[in-house]
Amino acid sequence: MALHWLVALAVAGQIGLGWFLDEVPRGTPDRTLWINLHKSTGIVLGILILLRLAWRITHKPPPLPLTMPRWERLAASTNHALLYVCLIGMPLAGYIASNHSRFGIRFFGIPLAPWGRDDRAIYSVFNGLHEVLSWLLVALIALHLAAALKHALIDRDGVLQRMLPGKRLPQI
Ligand code: HEM
Ligand code: HEM
Repeated sequence: MALHWLVALAVAGQIGLGWFLDEVPRGTPDRTLWINLHKSTGIVLGILILLRLAWRITHKPPPLPLTMPRWERLAASTNHALLYVCLIGMPLAGYIASNHSRFGIRFFGIPLAPWGRDDRAIYSVFNGLHEVLSWLLVALIALHLAAALKHALIDRDGVLQRMLPGKRLPQI
């Protein structure tokens, strides 16, 4: 639960920072500063996401309520799997792209020498993937949020409470 909310908050902030980058003019010292902050927080977030995934693999969540129709269970597990694909793919694509650029990464001020060659074509592929995944991630989060609200306000089946500390509703 703690990791879910930590990652959720950090991902929202990281997406906001990514969008903000589009507003910072290219070739300015300000852009270098903000982009390296985004790269640094993105790497930390990537590690946090791997920890969350490791926790998830070793800790099975309780079964979903039987009142949930089959299509909803399938939709939930597909959405969660795709969320993980984006959550792993985004930092990885950003990291690989940045290592194929002469700018490399300054990790909170520490320069990390790029391990790839400076190649615009490779950079564009992974940077493009980073952008496409960001839109997919936003769509999946919107769906995830709508589903959480449906469980809380319409179904009232205690699924949202599973991700909140405190008393659980009895599950059917
Ligand atoms: C979960 C982690 C991350 C998320 C959610 C994220 C999200 C975003 C978003 C939403 C954008 C704006 C895309 C656009 O509309 O143009 C962006 C841009 C960017 N991100 Fe990330 N990012 C993450 C991690 C990283 C990492 C680890 C790096 C590199 C080490 C990175 C490097 C970049 C760069 C260089 C851009 C600017 C691309 C450009 O303007 O051409 N990101 N990111
Ligand atoms: C950036 C935002 C978010 C991300 C990336 C995210 C990601 C995830 C992922 C990957 C899971 C699957 C857990 C698993 O079984 O492995 C999950 C579960 C869950 N999330 Fe989120 N989440 C976000 C925001 C939210 C918000 C805003 C809410 C509530 C309004 C929420 C409510 C839940 C609930 C209730 C579950 C558990 C479902 C169950 O018990 O099976 N999440 N989330």
